[in-house]
Amino acid sequence: MDRYLVFGHPVRHSKSPFIHTLFARQTQQELEYGLAEPAVDEFAQALRTFFDQGGKGCNVTVPFKEQAFTLVDRLSLRAKRAGAVNTIKLTDDGVLLGDNTDGAGLVADLKSHGVTLADSRILLLGAGGAARGALAPLLAELPSELVIANRTHTKAQQLAAEFHDLGPVTAQTYEQLAGPFDLVINSTSASLQGELPPLAPALIHTDIAIYDMMYGASDTAFISWAKQHGARQTMDGLGMLVEQAAEAFTVWRGIRPGTKQVLRELKRNLGVI
Ligand code: ATR
Repeated sequence: MDRYLVFGHPVRHSKSPFIHTLFARQTQQELEYGLAEPAVDEFAQALRTFFDQGGKGCNVTVPFKEQAFTLVDRLSLRAKRAGAVNTIKLTDDGVLLGDNTDGAGLVADLKSHGVTLADSRILLLGAGGAARGALAPLLAELPSELVIANRTHTKAQQLAAEFHDLGPVTAQTYEQLAGPFDLVINSTSASLQGELPPLAPALIHTDIAIYDMMYGASDTAFISWAKQHGARQTMDGLGMLVEQAAEAFTVWRGIRPGTKQVLRELKRNLGVI
């Protein structure tokens, strides 16, 4: 049977095996999908061994995405732009192709929630790997403006300069931000420390859409905060997780699984509904 897995550390709580097993059942594809948690300095060897032993493809998550970028034979354009690889496919001619489906997953999830990106003013919080992966797919949707704000302002400036040729992207400090924005995307890892990005509450209004790339069994700290200040449309990163997986599955199998039912099952599995 064709073998796939996700590399990460820690990876025990990954939902990818659950999601891909449901995709495989739905599309009647014969495959198995597992987990691998190599020591941080043993990822390269573990990756090689997996493909030497007949593996067909894998996902890569924290902290290996940047390393995977350097280990594959060929990169997709979106992986090059993201500077990271979350999906690897062994092609029929034996080439390891590195791809990145995270940004496409974000955009697909936003669209599935009915969020309009064309001509919108988007505020992206954070300038780390998650923000980098989102920029090209967001700019491809032709927003009127995309502003990056980051605690370390120089990183936001660097990112804006790097993606400037793809669209109207600028960097502003949190203090400089002036609304109204149509959509705020939180790509920071602040909530992992139980913190909030230092966003002025005045930027939140009833018609704003709030997206947090993080997710949990209950509202993330950022979503709770936004709701408190009047946001009516809030979305967490669970849909992005399913959509990036669907995109990876499509890269591997050439068949696109439906995501709605799988997202519902995942929510039930997490105890969200
Ligand atoms: P990822 O790959 O998930 O994006 P990362 O590359 O470590 O992770 O980036 C984390 C992002 O969250 C950065 O933009 C970071 O800001 P700095 O560049 O200033 O470090 C941001 N971040 C983390 N904790 C934060 C906090 N408490 N408040 C605001 N931003 C925070």
